[in-house]
Amino acid sequence: MRQSLIMGNWKMNGSRESAKSLSSAILAGLVENENATIAVCVPYVYLSDLQALTANSPVEIGAQNVADQASGAYTGEISSSMLQEFDCKYALVGHSERRSYYGDTDASVAARFCEAQKNGVIPVLCIGETLAEREQGDTFNVVNTQLDAVIAVAGIAALANAVIAYEPVWAIGTGVTASDDQAQEVHKAIRARIASKDQAIADNMQILYGGSMKAANAKGLLSMPDIDGGLIGGASLDAESFLAIYHSV
Ligand code: PGA
Repeated sequence: MRQSLIMGNWKMNGSRESAKSLSSAILAGLVENENATIAVCVPYVYLSDLQALTANSPVEIGAQNVADQASGAYTGEISSSMLQEFDCKYALVGHSERRSYYGDTDASVAARFCEAQKNGVIPVLCIGETLAEREQGDTFNVVNTQLDAVIAVAGIAALANAVIAYEPVWAIGTGVTASDDQAQEVHKAIRARIASKDQAIADNMQILYGGSMKAANAKGLLSMPDIDGGLIGGASLDAESFLAIYHSV
């Protein structure tokens, strides 16, 4: 039985004060749910505050990216060993905003994935098609290519310590969400792709849905058999909305 994972992605929002008040509000309203893990991926500079605030709480913390190198002359990058010092359990890799605005490629995403795992940080591999790709009937090709690029470098066994987030690019931050069936269809295909290489890993793999998930649509999405949680942007910036999703699992 797979545990659900409800993960917030704050992106580049807020201030040090609002990061503290949002996390305090999450902690204050949280009713522990044995069916789900709760986590927030916050801007690097707030990790220290979040580490202190969430210590001894059910809330796990994560980063929104991680370097593709271990250390050295890589100005502006943050390594997984640095993240690990802040009790960062997760790091997103290959978010579509990284891929489209900052040039992250399948190769660099695979390298980031491997670097995260070297220090025990669980990579959350984000994959998903654009609207044009969906309209061309390329959805499965695109997600398989993004997935295979990581498996080719990391090996299938590495997926045992990873999470996948299926995030259709056309649903991210648009208010348009994939329907329950649309999302389930792709999640099922992703799991089948993994199962073709390792059935046990596929059975245990947490595959999250991301893209305009909110309290109103979460229940339907999260009740689909291959959807094991959510990666939530906008709605995670409001403690009440975020907790409503977590509590609905
Ligand atoms: P959204 O973002 O919930 O605001 O669509 C999801 C994400 O980008 O991870």
